[in-house]
Amino acid sequence: MDPIRNPYAPGAGQRPPELAGRDEQLRAFDVVLERVVKGRPERSLVLTGLRGVGKTVLLNALRSAAVRRRWGTGKLEARPDQALRRPLSSALHQAVRELGHPDPDSVDHVLGVIRAFAQREAGAGARLKDQWNPGIDAPVVRGRADSGDIEIDLVELFTDIGGLAADVGNGIAVFIDEMQDLGPDDVSALCAACHEISQSGLPVIVVGAGLPHLPAVLSASKSYSERLFHYQRIDRLAREAADRALTAPATEEDAAFTDEALTAMYAATGGYPYFIQAYGKAVWDRAPRSPITLDDVQVATPEAESELAVGFFGSRYERATPGEREYLRAMADVAAASEDPAVEAVPTADVAAVLGKKPQALSPARDALLKKGLIYSGERGRIAFTVPHFGRYLREHAG
Ligand SMILES: Nc1ncnc2c1ncn2[C@@H]1O[C@H](COP(=O)(O)OP(=O)(O)OP(=O)(O)O)[C@@H](O)[C@H]1O
Ligand SMILES: [Mg+2]
Repeated sequence: MDPIRNPYAPGAGQRPPELAGRDEQLRAFDVVLERVVKGRPERSLVLTGLRGVGKTVLLNALRSAAVRRRWGTGKLEARPDQALRRPLSSALHQAVRELGHPDPDSVDHVLGVIRAFAQREAGAGARLKDQWNPGIDAPVVRGRADSGDIEIDLVELFTDIGGLAADVGNGIAVFIDEMQDLGPDDVSALCAACHEISQSGLPVIVVGAGLPHLPAVLSASKSYSERLFHYQRIDRLAREAADRALTAPATEEDAAFTDEALTAMYAATGGYPYFIQAYGKAVWDRAPRSPITLDDVQVATPEAESELAVGFFGSRYERATPGEREYLRAMADVAAASEDPAVEAVPTADVAAVLGKKPQALSPARDALLKKGLIYSGERGRIAFTVPHFGRYLREHAG
């Protein structure tokens, strides 16, 4: 069928033509926004899930929902080895602008505090040229959020922006993607700031997204984090939602799928959003006409698989060194040998046994893979792939 009209959108953070199966999260978020503005106690929201399940696009959709309610919003993507100050100041700068507070002096004051917060990264008394500014013209306001202790500074900063938002009867939402990559000091400061804000009832919320072990990262930092955040596991789509992700965009283009085609698509994709988009795209291009049939799905499958092998699996596999790849393949073998075919996490001791090494000898490889976000550890002594179907890919392609 006409490739120009192909509606499917495989790709990290690519907005899907139909955001299927996330109505519950969107509805719940609307309630959160309402409650926060009314000064009701609310927990910050954290979305967790494997690679490609749709955390980023849901985070973006939640942000749009906040924008529609005229909230001030800002977003950042955490990176390993990058401190929170700079990206957070940029995000908050944007959020304050979006808020549209009518009094320029109040706005300048808060922007001046954000600027001081940002500049503190270079250390006290840094030369002017080393002081980074997130594009703020307002003069620096000294004595707020610039102590150098990130925890104190963040609490003060959130308090000030919360006050500004409360003035206009609205809220500020900060969206943090890849939140598991924040450094330990930043995580703990963020928890403290959220804690403070929730107690004072100021209209500021943090909405995070990250890999499945993010709750463990947060609770290792502050034991009270479990009460602070509302965790939402973002998972593969149920059959009905997966079908809708394919059929709704097709209908827009006056095309359809047969029932057998949809069944085969679900078997192949397992309901994982990234796979749904990749298969949808390949099948559309291969099918001679609508409706798309089981035959079309079978013909297009090798193409979809090889696209995924390159774009989804291969790009990640390439980030691993030879030693790390050996570790990954051993994980895949352990998972394959397991009695439970749906097993996710495997014991690190078993991986070591497969490789014939002591677990300690393997910790550098394991730690590097954790840092690269290829595996995660949700519970002590066990590890799992962050990428769905990664074990299968390794066994089939990376032998
Ligand atoms: N609810 C959904 N319905 C249909 N397609 C979706 C849905 N959510 C995400 N997708 C599609 O899945 C793909 C992956 O989405 P996204 O990048 O948001 O995943 P992610 O969880 O952030 O992955 P990563 O952990 O790699 O950052 C995109 O192509 C997107 O269009
Ligand atoms: Mg993402």
